[in-house]
Amino acid sequence: MNAMQQSMADGMRFEPMAFPAFPETGTRAPGNASAGIGMRLAVRNLVMRYPNGHTALDGVSLEVGAGEMVVILGSNGCGKSTLMKCVVGLNHPTGGSVEVAGRDLAALSGRALREARMPIALISQHANLVKRRSVLANVCTGALGRHRSLSTMLGCVPKSEIEPARGFLDEVGLLHLAHQRASTLSGGQAQRVAVARALAQRPQVVLADEPVASLDPEAADDVMKLLRRLATDDGLAVVAVLHQPELATRYADRLIGMRGGHIEFDERASSVGMHQISNLYVAQAS
Ligand SMILES: Nc1ncnc2c1ncn2[C@@H]1O[C@H](COP(=O)(O)OP(=O)(O)OP(=O)(O)O)[C@@H](O)[C@H]1O
Ligand SMILES: [Mg+2]
Repeated sequence: MNAMQQSMADGMRFEPMAFPAFPETGTRAPGNASAGIGMRLAVRNLVMRYPNGHTALDGVSLEVGAGEMVVILGSNGCGKSTLMKCVVGLNHPTGGSVEVAGRDLAALSGRALREARMPIALISQHANLVKRRSVLANVCTGALGRHRSLSTMLGCVPKSEIEPARGFLDEVGLLHLAHQRASTLSGGQAQRVAVARALAQRPQVVLADEPVASLDPEAADDVMKLLRRLATDDGLAVVAVLHQPELATRYADRLIGMRGGHIEFDERASSVGMHQISNLYVAQAS
């Protein structure tokens, strides 16, 4: 079976012609470590008030540089996911700004905004793979947003994306499972495939909202090592939300503690004391 036949057997539809893609906003290629320099993500004075009047973010500012891994800690409901959604554009903040690779998203709209958001990939607690499709086909879907044609809107994968997708699977250690159905994966494997799918987006910023919440300690450690490597070896800016202080202090360069919609501390991981972390989880007087 040739590569195209194999991919069709995997449930992938092809866009066989070369066609102009959107400009590549990411900088990395599989196996091509290129630690960049400078600020990748800057959030300034972000406010998010939901339509019901609840203020979930109350002036949050943070910066994450290329090659840096930051972990956000905080109790349930303190605003971590709201922050992630504002950065990736799923929530529209009430105030403040989000800059990605030097571009202020609030100043953009339409196609320019879509392009500016492309370098931000979001990994969630659940891998959300298409279970009946192959692992490789799932990874390829990460690339679809960078191409705009009728066929890619219908889910056809450009042929040019298949080899890179194999490279990303190799990077997460799962190339040998490329042609297996996603439904057969363990939770830890599925989450690593979700990381590979995020890489197919060619991100400069990776946001991971509780990426290890449903994993056993060994699988959680594997995913954390992988995220760490994306920062150290590939120069990505990585922001992970965790409920595991021990993993946070082991893997992060910096820890950000959130409480009640604002930032309580933002310090080098080595200088954060356990009491600071514990205080995040002490109930606030209302
Ligand atoms: N769509 C919404 N409408 C109204 N309030 C919301 C909405 N989404 C979230 N909230 C509220 O905003 C606050 C922050 O929610 P968020 O999901 O950001 O918390 P979190 O820090 O991610 O918590 P967890 O650790 O449980 O995931 C919570 O009080 C939540 O109830
Ligand atoms: Mg959350």
